[in-house]
Amino acid sequence: MEPDSIRHHFKAQVSDYPGLMKRLVPFFDEQREILLGLIPFDREAPLRILDLGCGPGLLAARLLSEYKHAELTAFDLTQEMLDSCRSRLSGVDRVSYQLGDFRSDDLGENYDLIVAALSLHHMELEERYGFFRRAYRSLKAGGVFLASEVIADESTAVREQQYQLWREFMERNGEDSAAWYRRHCEKDHPATISFLVATLSKTGFQAPGCFWRYLNFAVLSARKAAASETTPPTR
Ligand SMILES: C[S@@+](CC[C@H](N)C(=O)[O-])C[C@H]1O[C@@H](n2cnc3c(N)ncnc32)[C@H](O)[C@@H]1O
Repeated sequence: MEPDSIRHHFKAQVSDYPGLMKRLVPFFDEQREILLGLIPFDREAPLRILDLGCGPGLLAARLLSEYKHAELTAFDLTQEMLDSCRSRLSGVDRVSYQLGDFRSDDLGENYDLIVAALSLHHMELEERYGFFRRAYRSLKAGGVFLASEVIADESTAVREQQYQLWREFMERNGEDSAAWYRRHCEKDHPATISFLVATLSKTGFQAPGCFWRYLNFAVLSARKAAASETTPPTR
């Protein structure tokens, strides 16, 4: 999807973002907690964290509150989302803000943790390898990559059934499920879990895997080998 189209879409959502997401995404709050639960680092560690597609900072706020010595870069394409994130995190001085496109702009380096919650499906499937490779390079040895993703099942029949259940979920919450489903088909690029795991693996990540899934939503984790795992043993 073109950057302007993504910006336009999210600019319109910013005022009612948490409410809207809860109506559109099953287990929206729980997915964030599941992702947090996959972080293997000590709560007291001075982590460097990159939040890609941070939106209004719901995950960033939880990360900074759980990891009191962490520094976080909040990265987003949409100025209004970054402004909302800044206002949610006002008073926290361990944050820097970066307006940019994670498909092409510099991601920085030496991160312990990269998170991307519900933001990567805006990227085309062909862009995934290059993106994962850049994310991999931005991590320190031993670093971790966590993403909650909009996914698609391998089987067309299962996918259709899951979409039906997703649409019923949105409808029950008073949303126009036909319009959201149409938008999803036209603009999003959901990948299968096997594609994501294989691509993460090809780009160098270790132990890529899905740790939670419901319908067309999943939480994945992968890690970069620790220095001790890549250095050959010395005699
Ligand atoms: C559905 S929101 C998710 C926000 C937040 N991570 C959360 O879980 O609540 C997706 C966010 O990703 C951002 N985004 C989409 N494509 C992007 C890109 N190519 N580069 C940077 N941010 C992007 C959008 O601007 C939006 O704020």
